[in-house]
Amino acid sequence: MANPSCLLYAFLLLVAFQSTMMNANTVIQPPQCRPVAASSREKIIFSVNLLLYQAEFLLHASVDAGINDISPGLVQGPDPIGATIANFSNPVRRVVEELGLATVGHLRALVQAGILDAPITRPQMDVSAEAYAGFVNVAFNVSTLTPPFNIYANTPSFVAAAKGFSAFIQQYYAGIIPSIVGNDQQQLVTQIGLSQSAGLGVLRTLLNDVINSTVQPYTFTAAELSNRTSEVVNRLGGCGVKAEGLIVPLQLGAENRTTSNVVPGDVNSLAFVRFEREILRMVFGTGNATMPGGLFPRGFFGSLYQRNRDS
Ligand SMILES: *[C@@H]1O[C@H](CO)[C@@H](O)[C@H](O)[C@H]1NC(C)=O
Ligand SMILES: *[C@@H]1O[C@H](CO)[C@@H](O)[C@H](O)[C@H]1NC(C)=O
Ligand SMILES: *[C@@H]1O[C@H](CO)[C@@H](O)[C@H](O)[C@H]1NC(C)=O
Ligand SMILES: *[C@@H]1O[C@H](CO)[C@@H](O)[C@H](O)[C@H]1NC(C)=O
Ligand SMILES: *[C@@H]1O[C@H](CO)[C@@H](O)[C@H](O)[C@H]1NC(C)=O
Ligand SMILES: *[C@@H]1O[C@H](CO)[C@@H](O)[C@H](O)[C@H]1NC(C)=O
Repeated sequence: MANPSCLLYAFLLLVAFQSTMMNANTVIQPPQCRPVAASSREKIIFSVNLLLYQAEFLLHASVDAGINDISPGLVQGPDPIGATIANFSNPVRRVVEELGLATVGHLRALVQAGILDAPITRPQMDVSAEAYAGFVNVAFNVSTLTPPFNIYANTPSFVAAAKGFSAFIQQYYAGIIPSIVGNDQQQLVTQIGLSQSAGLGVLRTLLNDVINSTVQPYTFTAAELSNRTSEVVNRLGGCGVKAEGLIVPLQLGAENRTTSNVVPGDVNSLAFVRFEREILRMVFGTGNATMPGGLFPRGFFGSLYQRNRDS
């Protein structure tokens, strides 16, 4: 049993067993919605792919900077595809910048905790308007909107996309926090998850401020954009309705009493949970966790991703 691979196997079984126990008194999830058996470190590194993306995305869009401009030497590897500055009002720019900066801090904290070494190698990330237009075209069931959808054109277009991505981080953290082994690591991951969750609320609040206005230059409103893209994301994820619009039917609103839905949640307004393969199916835009594309054209880094891909 001293054989390291035996130990790893026993450990993975234990992890898988723990996950089963946690779900025992709730709904049994179908196989494609369950977590991949993995160590705490592997789960955290999986999340680093998402944090890297968000940091680059928000910083480039707000102040035309990347992670290394803020924290030299923190990352290496390919620059994101299609990064560009967005057409924001100054108050919105400041908020988007703040959330990007906060995410850089979270990455540095993970390095300082010894979970991974700097420079962190970024996966290939695509933050281009075209990558997002792909999702929006599907949402409106057209081969392409005229003119092509550009998330960088104005606040509603960008914030609708950014809140979608931010939700993946919040939901993944909601899923892994209970299973992180070791007080120090669980504390750190909780601090990151709560800060990220607040960021999601801020993005949705920005969108809510303009929710009934039309998204220029189209005729649909921000509410409709958010509703339709949520539907696409849920379809890709394949594990139920966890992305929700900001104006919803009463039965999706808190206590079935409101159509206002700034903070999404389940019937008891609890945060939704998503695990690895569900996240991959959505960010790849392929509905297939082993078929990279969309926002991560060459997939994620890390052994959890690799093992799932090879299995
Ligand atoms: C999408 O549009 C096509 C025609 O372009 C139509 O046949 C199809 O039913 C539409 N799908 C949905 C879900 O509305
Ligand atoms: C930038 O945003 C403003 C305010 O939403 C809008 O009036 C203007 O048309 C936008 N510019 C471009 C180039 O889209
Ligand atoms: C948006 O429209 C809904 C009605 O569909 C209304 O209840 C809500 O107050 C409006 N929200 C804002 C922020 O204007
Ligand atoms: C989108 O809006 C439709 C019509 O109001 C509603 O039935 C559906 O639940 C909404 N979906 C999401 C994900 O918000
Ligand atoms: C809200 O409606 C759903 C069905 O759509 C139901 O399952 C749930 O119990 C209701 N919640 C409350 C607080 O009434
Ligand atoms: C997902 O993609 C892989 C190729 O990467 C393919 O072998 C597999 O059948 C696909 N799965 C589904 C459910 O489509």
